[in-house]
Amino acid sequence: MGKYQLIATAAMGLEALVAKEVRALGYECEVENGKVIYTGDENAIARSNLWLRTADRVKIKVGEFKAYTFDELFEKTKALPWEKYLPEDAEFPVTGKSVKSKLFSVSDCQAIVKKAVVDRMKSYYKRNSWFEETGAYFRIEVALLKDVATITIDTSGQGLHKRGYRVDQGEAPLKETLAAALVSVTNWKPDKPFIDPFCGSGTIPIEAAMIGQNIAPGFNREFVSENWNWIPGSVWDEARIEAEDLANYDQPLDIIGTDIDHRMIKIAQENSFEAGLGDLIQYKQMQVRDITTNKEYGVMVGNPPYGERLGEKKAVEQMYKEMGQAFSKLDTWSIYILTSNEEFEQFYGKPATKKRKLFNGFIRTDLYQYWGKRPPRIIE
Ligand SMILES: C[S@@+](CC[C@H](N)C(=O)[O-])C[C@H]1O[C@@H](n2cnc3c(N)ncnc32)[C@H](O)[C@@H]1O
Repeated sequence: MGKYQLIATAAMGLEALVAKEVRALGYECEVENGKVIYTGDENAIARSNLWLRTADRVKIKVGEFKAYTFDELFEKTKALPWEKYLPEDAEFPVTGKSVKSKLFSVSDCQAIVKKAVVDRMKSYYKRNSWFEETGAYFRIEVALLKDVATITIDTSGQGLHKRGYRVDQGEAPLKETLAAALVSVTNWKPDKPFIDPFCGSGTIPIEAAMIGQNIAPGFNREFVSENWNWIPGSVWDEARIEAEDLANYDQPLDIIGTDIDHRMIKIAQENSFEAGLGDLIQYKQMQVRDITTNKEYGVMVGNPPYGERLGEKKAVEQMYKEMGQAFSKLDTWSIYILTSNEEFEQFYGKPATKKRKLFNGFIRTDLYQYWGKRPPRIIE
């Protein structure tokens, strides 16, 4: 088994959650802006892809160095052991980005990295001709930040948010990784009731159900590194067997998704069945203001409309008001609402216990957290 420097990339604000998941897999890690860095072998690559719920991708760091000139970028890239990763028939496109760096032309950086890799491979594989690139896919990235070039290879393929269960969606679906993060922030335990009052296509309830039964989020999809010749198929087989062993399909769940729009309820149901969780989540068409429950100590997580579209603001703010009134009776419930509306607390009628800044795509939002009463301690 080899040893690789791995990077789990994370959306801004989610780094600590990703780090918690990486540690739960058994790997010590360091946290930087937008990434969690750790060391692992081929098993770590497979297990990270299968299990990380809140990370965007898993990448291998091939090298990191200062690069102020194109010559430096070329020579230092060429000095990296590309033959360790790329077979002779590899397809290896190069993508790039540059922030606050002398080498700001991304297309030039990409072309130079590509040429450097080709040169290295030509001398290793003793070739004079071009590589046909008909084999497995290795997406190389050159990322420059303050003149430091980080060169990586992506192991995931499609982003990890693509779980494979979303057959349909509404207008503003939440990214699956963010939905998982919202559930994770609540510390919800699967023996407690859970409601998403704005379920849309069901992303939050589905992610909650997978967390509740400890189902690996990547169980239903493939990863690009499954086609790499130096990761034996047995590594993936074992990681999938481990995931199957750790899933707790017997865990009963009380998860409800509601939405005002009956078409969304249908979509949420379809997505849940696609995820294999159709019988575990109950969906119901209803308005948020009509939500009542006798259950206690539950968790509510909602991603309502933000009212950013023209003509929508007033109605949305009225709805926040009605939601505040309906939920005021649920004092044992912990309620988490994600919105970009900075006056949310005023409309809801109560200051949040805590706010957490998060980005929903490019929209800056806050997760308004209202912590419920704790259950009484049982003294024996
Ligand atoms: C931003 S979307 C939620 C997206 C969802 N998290 C997903 O991943 O698909 C907001 C949802 O709130 C619903 N909605 C709007 N007003 C509502 C109300 N008064 N009561 C309940 N649901 C409402 C909309 O139909 C929409 O599906």
